[in-house]
Amino acid sequence: MSRSPRAALAATVAVGALAFVAAPLPANAADSAAGADPLADLALVPQPSHVAATGADPVELGAGTVIKVHPLDDGAASVGEGFAELLRDATGYAVPVGQRAAGASRGATIELSTRGDAALGDEGYTIQAEGTHVSLEAHTAEGLFRGATTLRQLLPPEVESAEASDVAWAIPSVDISDAPRYDYRGAMLDVGRRFYPVDDVKRFIDHMALYKYNALHLHLTDDQGWRLTVDARPELTQVGASTQSGWKPGTGGPWFYTKADYQEIVKYAADHFIEVVPEIDGPSHAMAAKASIPEINCDGKAVAPYSGFDVGLPTICLTPEKRAEVRAYLQDVFTEAAQQSSSDIVHIGGDEVPSTTQEQMDWYVETSAEVLAEQGKRVMGWHQIGASPLPEGSIMQWWADAGDQASIGTPNERPDVRELRNALAQGATVVASPADRSYLDMKYDASVPYGLSWAGLVDLERSYDWDPISVTSSTDGSVSLATEEQIEGVEAALWADRAYYGSTKLPTSLDQFIPVSQYADFVSFPRMPAIAEVGWSAPEVRSFDDFERRIVQQAHRWDEMGIGYYKAPDVPWEE
Ligand code: ACM
Repeated sequence: MSRSPRAALAATVAVGALAFVAAPLPANAADSAAGADPLADLALVPQPSHVAATGADPVELGAGTVIKVHPLDDGAASVGEGFAELLRDATGYAVPVGQRAAGASRGATIELSTRGDAALGDEGYTIQAEGTHVSLEAHTAEGLFRGATTLRQLLPPEVESAEASDVAWAIPSVDISDAPRYDYRGAMLDVGRRFYPVDDVKRFIDHMALYKYNALHLHLTDDQGWRLTVDARPELTQVGASTQSGWKPGTGGPWFYTKADYQEIVKYAADHFIEVVPEIDGPSHAMAAKASIPEINCDGKAVAPYSGFDVGLPTICLTPEKRAEVRAYLQDVFTEAAQQSSSDIVHIGGDEVPSTTQEQMDWYVETSAEVLAEQGKRVMGWHQIGASPLPEGSIMQWWADAGDQASIGTPNERPDVRELRNALAQGATVVASPADRSYLDMKYDASVPYGLSWAGLVDLERSYDWDPISVTSSTDGSVSLATEEQIEGVEAALWADRAYYGSTKLPTSLDQFIPVSQYADFVSFPRMPAIAEVGWSAPEVRSFDDFERRIVQQAHRWDEMGIGYYKAPDVPWEE
């Protein structure tokens, strides 16, 4: 991502009168003898940098409510229109966008403007709500969009409903100033192992947007399938898209995105200020490519399409005599991935590579990076790429677990830790997606029928109670590998290794495969919002107890949206 300097983001918090930090609230704040604390009723996720209650009555919306934007402020007009649509559906009010017509009936005005201070950066915003006026200011349309998400969460949960309801439509009187801690807040979908049709990807984007995620990482290729149309290599989708995990050729499909499909995803994501980061995994996790393109195999023969559940399968051939053909393949697939996507980042995979030499891996990483440099893209890869030479501006994705972390600073640091050190020494930045915190396919508890537990059971507190600095430091915190400036952000990774019912065993029937959105909803909620807060909110405003209080309130929104979340028994859900 090319974003504003971090210094500018830090400056956003210094907004004069809004110096109240929303410290974690005592559980009984609402009942305190001094009277109700209006902040105790707020349940925003992620928690903003600064929230202050003005003490005034809530701002009531009504039939005369208008979204006011300056006629020349296109960014405000488009974000305002999106917000108005949400309000129209839920309230039944007309909610026009623009200037209030002369003589129109009065009602609270919601004013949106991109004329906010440049120090707000790309995603920062302020909200002031009092009397009959709500003001949302940012410096960009993106900042307004993030702020509109907060406004949405200040309204009753019924705002998420597509049907009009008759609740008291009011916004509490608050002053908020907010900006993200990290520039990159990603969520990954493994569409390689299990294909997500366009509408299911859009549903996932809706959920990301509600929690201020800004990067959709599409894991487009794996052993079990290839999902990206590549004009120069039609075999990749003719053959490579005939499988998914557990689904042999002839059981359905083909499962891939046409160029029009992919553009629909990119556009829908952009409408939610989310970039699409494509991943073409290699040189391992590449059986679908090896089944499609004979030239990238050492014997020049295509392998059989793979639909099993193993990892560590044979890689793309990296012997010197094959390099011209492999380079041509990389040129074709990375050029297509770069040109179809909207991010300045392309992910080259690099994980779980068996039986290659370091020289071979270096060649693969350097060649991929060269192709991407021609396309003006930055390289991202799983942390194993840290062992190889990396170009300026690369991002390494830290998917380590507690065992790796425990080895930091000991005489027996694991290879993963050395890879992280090496990447940082080369000037790379880090996206943290620790498997034992942010892999959404890890079972929440042993009763969960989907997913795996190789990195442990990951309950809500575990997915919340970390940050990129803590997971790149020794367990006691005495040795830290990365500084705050070296952290690009966080990612929640939704793998599909075992996206079926009864996942402690291999499936025996295709009936065990539940619809992809049912799987995604169940494993993402409540943990995806937790990881969003790790990426967005400053450490000073985070506490698990308060998060748990807020997530229970958020669940009322999920009910309105029809999200089939996991009612984890350790969370005190309300009826
Ligand atoms: C990974 O989980 N293999 C990146």
